[in-house]
Amino acid sequence: MRLFASATGLLAILSVLNTATAAPTNSGFEISWEEAYAKAEKLVSGWTLEQKVNVGTGSGNEQGPCEGNTIASPGFPALCMNDGPTGLRRAYNSSQFVAGINCGASFDRELTRQRGAYMAQEFRDKGVNVMLGPGMNMLRVPRGGRNWEFAGEDPYLAAAVSEELIHGIQSEGVIATTKHLIGNEQEENRYDVDTIMDDKTLHEMYLIPFYHSIEAGSGAVMCSYNKVNGTYACDSDNLMNNILKDQLDFKGFVMSDWWATHSTVNGINSGLDMTMPGDANADSVTGGGLWFGKNLTDAVERGDVSEDRVTDMATRIVAAWYKVYIDYPELRFNYFDSDVHADLNVQRNHKENIRAQGAASVVLLKNEDNILPLKQDSINKLAIIGSDAGPDPEGLNKCQDGSCSRGTLTQGWGSGSCYLPYLVTPLDGITDRADDSIEITSTLDDWDLENAAKIAADADIAFVFAKSDSGEMYIVVDDNPGDRNNLTLWYNGENLIKAVADANDNTVVVIHSVGPIDMSSWIDHPNIKAIVWPGLPGQETGNSLADVLFGDYNPSGRLPYTIAKDINDYVADVSPDLEVEYTEGVYIGYRHFDKYNIEPLYEFGYGLSYTTFEFDKLNVKVNKKKTEKVTATLATASLFVENTGHLDGNEIVQAYIVYPESADQPPKQLRGFEKVFVEAGKKKKVNFEFTVRDLSIWDVVQQKWVVPSGEFTLLAGHTSLDIRQKATFTV
Ligand SMILES: *[C@@H]1O[C@H](CO)[C@@H](O)[C@H](O)[C@H]1NC(C)=O
Ligand SMILES: *[C@@H]1O[C@H](CO)[C@@H](O)[C@H](O)[C@H]1NC(C)=O
Ligand SMILES: *[C@@H]1O[C@H](CO)[C@@H](O)[C@H](O)[C@H]1NC(C)=O
Ligand SMILES: *[C@@H]1O[C@H](CO)[C@@H](O)[C@H](O)[C@H]1NC(C)=O
Repeated sequence: MRLFASATGLLAILSVLNTATAAPTNSGFEISWEEAYAKAEKLVSGWTLEQKVNVGTGSGNEQGPCEGNTIASPGFPALCMNDGPTGLRRAYNSSQFVAGINCGASFDRELTRQRGAYMAQEFRDKGVNVMLGPGMNMLRVPRGGRNWEFAGEDPYLAAAVSEELIHGIQSEGVIATTKHLIGNEQEENRYDVDTIMDDKTLHEMYLIPFYHSIEAGSGAVMCSYNKVNGTYACDSDNLMNNILKDQLDFKGFVMSDWWATHSTVNGINSGLDMTMPGDANADSVTGGGLWFGKNLTDAVERGDVSEDRVTDMATRIVAAWYKVYIDYPELRFNYFDSDVHADLNVQRNHKENIRAQGAASVVLLKNEDNILPLKQDSINKLAIIGSDAGPDPEGLNKCQDGSCSRGTLTQGWGSGSCYLPYLVTPLDGITDRADDSIEITSTLDDWDLENAAKIAADADIAFVFAKSDSGEMYIVVDDNPGDRNNLTLWYNGENLIKAVADANDNTVVVIHSVGPIDMSSWIDHPNIKAIVWPGLPGQETGNSLADVLFGDYNPSGRLPYTIAKDINDYVADVSPDLEVEYTEGVYIGYRHFDKYNIEPLYEFGYGLSYTTFEFDKLNVKVNKKKTEKVTATLATASLFVENTGHLDGNEIVQAYIVYPESADQPPKQLRGFEKVFVEAGKKKKVNFEFTVRDLSIWDVVQQKWVVPSGEFTLLAGHTSLDIRQKATFTV
């Protein structure tokens, strides 16, 4: 009973927060595309050619005040765009949220939507119009540097995260940018690499998050640096015009990644609407030029680009702005001048979301003898060991773009990083939460194994912390060029874990990691009783970890990727070649492990709870009414979830679809999930809906989504391998 005394408090806060975001918060003012277009067409019709060109033209990098700025036209402001996916980049007194990969691990739509809304409030409070996120590339290669910004290896999970973030972001008047279109799955050679994938793979895997983002109303899409099938993404008529604007019916604007524009005439005729940042960046390997601006006006005057295309370009940008427009404060931010408005504190109550989602995204991988939650009455001394438990010795925000890695890891590095307004380290969080009667001893030195062992031996329970970091290619950290050099722990992590486990038979391992790691050298150590996997939890890391360790939050996080027994089991790795063909097709992550019956160490969707759940009465109903609309509901399902343990908790019910055999699809594919809170001893009904697209395959000949005929199976899983209920149906 004592265990959940304060859980009620936390849950009460959560339920208040959740009520506040249960309905889209944008209902007040976000208008439809039709209304937005009507307004935009009216404004743009009064503009000269040059004024239309200006709204799609970047004013130049470091021309401030934001990372990207457009040029104003009558009745329309110079838009300010800024990274990024974890918080307002290079701003002070603003929050560092959990990373994108933690949104995936939380399997929590409400906290994810709230994260988007809260982050956007900070952008708006500082006057920033466009958020350069969310990022929705896939975790295809575990070493990929930016995986931590995205939501893992499953396109449906990434789509769910993306759509919630977009609803949240745009509900606060900020334009969301879905990125990067497409095939930007590794950092190595990213400016030149040619990603080759077939049409089925493109649609069924990599485009799925974009479909959902566009249906959620995303105002902008960013084209990526790389080539796709031999053409630069920002020059690709097939990607931007055919797929994005025609097939996906995208009404907003396509923005280039920074210096990813490669032409004037071809780019704009292929569907590019905005070039960023709008200068020739002397040292850029992409060879950026001043592609829009006067070059574009000249191209129209020469007849190489039609004025209609420029009108459409301007209308798309203005419509995206009207769609989410609310009264905007003046710009109070300067990215290039260390944020001259640093004292403008925009954090509000946002740490509540960060702490709650930090706790909700902790994945408990192992918990023998129920060592967790901690039973404080029987503990006299806890040892906390490893640099990953403490502050960075250099101080807060002292290295470029999150590249400090000597303290606890709260985010990866690169443009997707942001400053920490403060940091609650794991050591602080555990110390604050532990009863006064418990003595905490610690060492943050990863290399003095003798001392670590001594401190561990002397405690009832020893916590050992380690990490694995990655980031964007323009910064090298400990010789890692963005993509990780290896999947083993950083610094002396493996030896530290072994030294601690040798010394204490109640060892708890805590890993902060950007993605999967190789655990093979220590996973079987008999003294490791628990493994805790908090991902990259942002500024409240210590508090959210303590919430789980002490039982204030019953863990419900699930792996958004597969952790292999042997790292050679993954289907693909970062490639040094300039042509990277996705030969595995749609078989990335668990789809590959399932296909070849490879047993992972921890499967996709895996995570333990302090209670137990049972599923019952899975039932599927098929909607017999014929429809061509891919977003229409084709089948619904329900089942009961019973909490059969002694503690209240959240279950993540995972719905996997097995296609008819003739469809030649992966053995199973996630098509739904629900996070459901069930009190101990109680039952709750959970419902699912599957759209036409959820049950379709992409027909490359007909170029459309087609529901295959034959028998489908719905699997209701606790994880992707622990399937608890099955039901078959035909549509
Ligand atoms: C890439 O080329 C393949 C083979 O020609 C084709 O099937 C596929 O549709 C192309 N993909 C894109 C994105 O254009
Ligand atoms: C037009 O583009 C070319 C190629 O990048 C560049 O050298 C030139 O400066 C641009 N001119 C203007 C006026 O933007
Ligand atoms: C944050 O704002 C406060 C005032 O609200 C100011 O004193 C402090 O210096 C600011 N922090 C930074 C890092 O600028
Ligand atoms: C893996 O990379 C990390 C970070 O650079 C490094 O600390 C570690 O020693 C490397 N591991 C191996 C086995 O080389």
